[in-house]
Amino acid sequence: MSDDWNDRTRLVHGGIRRSGYGEVSEAIFLTQGFVYDSAEAAAARFEAAGPDEFIYARYGNPTVAMFEDRIAALEGAEAGFATASGMAAVSGALTSMLRAGDHVVSARALFGSCLYILEEVLARFGVEVTFVDGTDLDAWAAAVRPDTRAVFLETVSNPTLEVIDLAGVAEIAHRAGATVVVDNVFATPIFSRALALGADVVVYSATKHIDGQGRALGGVILGTETFVRKTVEPYMKHTGGAMSPFTAWVMLKGMETLDLRVRAQAAGAQTLAEALSGHDKLARTIYPGLPDHPQHALAMAQMGSGGTVLSLDIAGGRAAAFQFLNALKLVTISNNLGDAKSIVTHPATTTHQRLSEEQRAALGIGPGLVRLSVGIEDPRDLLTDVLGALDAV
Ligand SMILES: Cc1ncc(COP(=O)(O)O)c(C=O)c1O
Repeated sequence: MSDDWNDRTRLVHGGIRRSGYGEVSEAIFLTQGFVYDSAEAAAARFEAAGPDEFIYARYGNPTVAMFEDRIAALEGAEAGFATASGMAAVSGALTSMLRAGDHVVSARALFGSCLYILEEVLARFGVEVTFVDGTDLDAWAAAVRPDTRAVFLETVSNPTLEVIDLAGVAEIAHRAGATVVVDNVFATPIFSRALALGADVVVYSATKHIDGQGRALGGVILGTETFVRKTVEPYMKHTGGAMSPFTAWVMLKGMETLDLRVRAQAAGAQTLAEALSGHDKLARTIYPGLPDHPQHALAMAQMGSGGTVLSLDIAGGRAAAFQFLNALKLVTISNNLGDAKSIVTHPATTTHQRLSEEQRAALGIGPGLVRLSVGIEDPRDLLTDVLGALDAV
């Protein structure tokens, strides 16, 4: 792989390890283990495996390594560890580095499962977590303490699409010596500049844009060589959250078209948001690419795009939101995002159902809120579908 390659080239050619057969498409090494020429060779590999030597698929595998190298090159990270799902990446990044007595500061607006890890799991193991309004830098500064070991945030947040000032949070965290961990799903690897802005660790659910075709669950933890090899890898390889070689191959194929898909999706989301803004059936159209979004300028500076997801607050609450969902003919009701197919979700009754009504209200997840992940269909067809469904409300 050449250091001079631009992102679209890295997405197609990055990380390739060709076998002796010279295959064009990346090979799937669907094997759990590897044979050794001698007992001495096995002992030597267990003592210190080289960068292209593998022991057991829970530790690493050539197809998985291709995916790790490709996504690390795109993100500008020194190393990556691929995981079985996005949640394995979030929990692995945090639990591999934290211990009882540590303090964590986290943005409050999080995906439900991330909230579960921070609120329930870490607390059970003696890690104290302080939640803040992620958009308020003063709140981060007030919450960070000398024993703060990590800060955690999603930017853009799910599903209220708050954008957090990553450079500002990183500066505050680093003053206290804390590690900045960012769940970057909504920013996507295409619009992300998280590491350049000061993040130390980036996690992705590869299930979203990276696969982008609704086929496989996966995730990845990206960071420095030392963090990935010395902190993440020992934890992940012994706790068993590894990505399967077949999934890695699906993700490699997804990455080839990632830039084309994500840019088309973001352009479609911008078109839809602009056309729907001010619609009389909507209390609010939330999209970071719209000038009336509270962090519009920050979103443009940080990502150069509003992203692939918009949220619509349908006037009339849950009944109106359900009428809208049920009247859509092209956009499908599901709970993934980042897919080539447009997907609509009612967070209050699905992804964020576990929260109390008060918690949802505090996060801005009202009964009329609908999340729309824009796919690669023709935006004109999507707009016709959405406008038709709004008419039915
Ligand atoms: C922001 C965010 N983080 C993490 C996840 C978890 O990813 P996965 O479903 O691949 O475990 C999701 C979605 O499910 C998400 O939206």
